[in-house]
Amino acid sequence: MKRLVILGSTGSIGTQTLDVVRQNPDRFKVVALSCARREKEMLEQAEEFGVPREHCYTCNGTYEENVKKLIEAATLDCDLVVNSLMGMRGLEPTYHALMSGHDVALANKETLVAGGSIIMKLARDKGLKLLPIDSEHSAIFQCLEGNQGRVIKKILLTCSGGPFRGKKREDMAEVTAAQALKHPKWNMGPKITIDSATLMNKGLEVIEAKWLFDVEPDRIQVLIHPQSIVHSGVEFMDNSILCQMGIPDMRIPISLALGYPDRLESPDEELDMFGVGSNLTFAKPDMETFKLLSLAYFAIGEGGSCPVVMNAANEVLVEKFLRDQIGFLEFQDKVCETVMKHKVLTGLSLEDVIRIDRETRESLK
Ligand SMILES: NC(=O)c1ccc[n+]([C@@H]2O[C@H](COP(=O)([O-])OP(=O)(O)OC[C@H]3O[C@@H](n4cnc5c(N)ncnc54)[C@H](OP(=O)(O)O)[C@@H]3O)[C@@H](O)[C@H]2O)c1
Repeated sequence: MKRLVILGSTGSIGTQTLDVVRQNPDRFKVVALSCARREKEMLEQAEEFGVPREHCYTCNGTYEENVKKLIEAATLDCDLVVNSLMGMRGLEPTYHALMSGHDVALANKETLVAGGSIIMKLARDKGLKLLPIDSEHSAIFQCLEGNQGRVIKKILLTCSGGPFRGKKREDMAEVTAAQALKHPKWNMGPKITIDSATLMNKGLEVIEAKWLFDVEPDRIQVLIHPQSIVHSGVEFMDNSILCQMGIPDMRIPISLALGYPDRLESPDEELDMFGVGSNLTFAKPDMETFKLLSLAYFAIGEGGSCPVVMNAANEVLVEKFLRDQIGFLEFQDKVCETVMKHKVLTGLSLEDVIRIDRETRESLK
């Protein structure tokens, strides 16, 4: 039995993680859960999965109070911490989970965007696993299995293109939150859905891939692949490309991370190769229109505090956009402006990252 702590159990990834546990009751035991606003749902989960009340953490207080509870959960006795939190609040729980000697299954990409060098070094030093849940990174991880040590020529990071694929800047001036929340392929939490509409999500994933697989961003090629069947791939020095495919269902990468190194049997829908095989397309992204993707390449190129600031600005401004307090283009422009104004600091500690994140948020209030 693998004992799991699930941070953010009421969200899109959290509930799908519990689906995988429900399908494999003899393999996993849930020992702790956390939520923010959906406490009733979390307590129902606790009842179903037999999680004691004292290990159910409701994080509806200040940032500091919430992070304290999340760290307490992440450091409980367990075999794997599943981090399905949204946003920068995932960084410290990941750090402390690793410090306590726990492997981490990571959906929370903001952890690596803000603190990639710190987290990867810690995982390496402690000999712990950081298992990616993001479908693209899970795909790359699978393509690299059995290929450790081989030189990677390129990472091919696929991207559905989001709801505004093919649109130009002027077509998106009037976009509302409700429109941007309609993702064509994936049913996800609101923040990542907006990030998918601006392609910032792909930018965050470029940075996540750089840290997870130690590949420089100029060797990470984003491919627009609207069918979302090829989840990403790796090109090696002999020009051979390995890709991973499957239907767009997050329970597949989640079950790989939970069961690793085993593969769990799935009762769900299979990929119909005859149905999709003749219809897989790949195109270059429009880096000019979707400028947050370009910004992410710029930010990781600058390094140090630049991705921290980009991530914080994006989180704050996405939230404002979701509350109809700022327009779709205006919020993206403001993220760019915040990053461009920033003077990059290097050699950051965890405390520096947290401080810079906080200062950026304050400056945008
Ligand atoms: N959804 C996907 O398909 C997908 C795919 C790949 C990667 N990811 C990544 O996975 C992460 C989670 O995404 P998601 O779509 O699952 O997000 P989500 O549906 O918004 O869920 C977020 C979870 O975090 C909790 N939470 C929210 N605010 C909090 C706070 N202030 N303190 C503590 N907990 C808080 C939520 O609790 P309540 O529900 O109680 O508010 C919920 O359990 C993100 O980093 C995302 O980029 C998601």
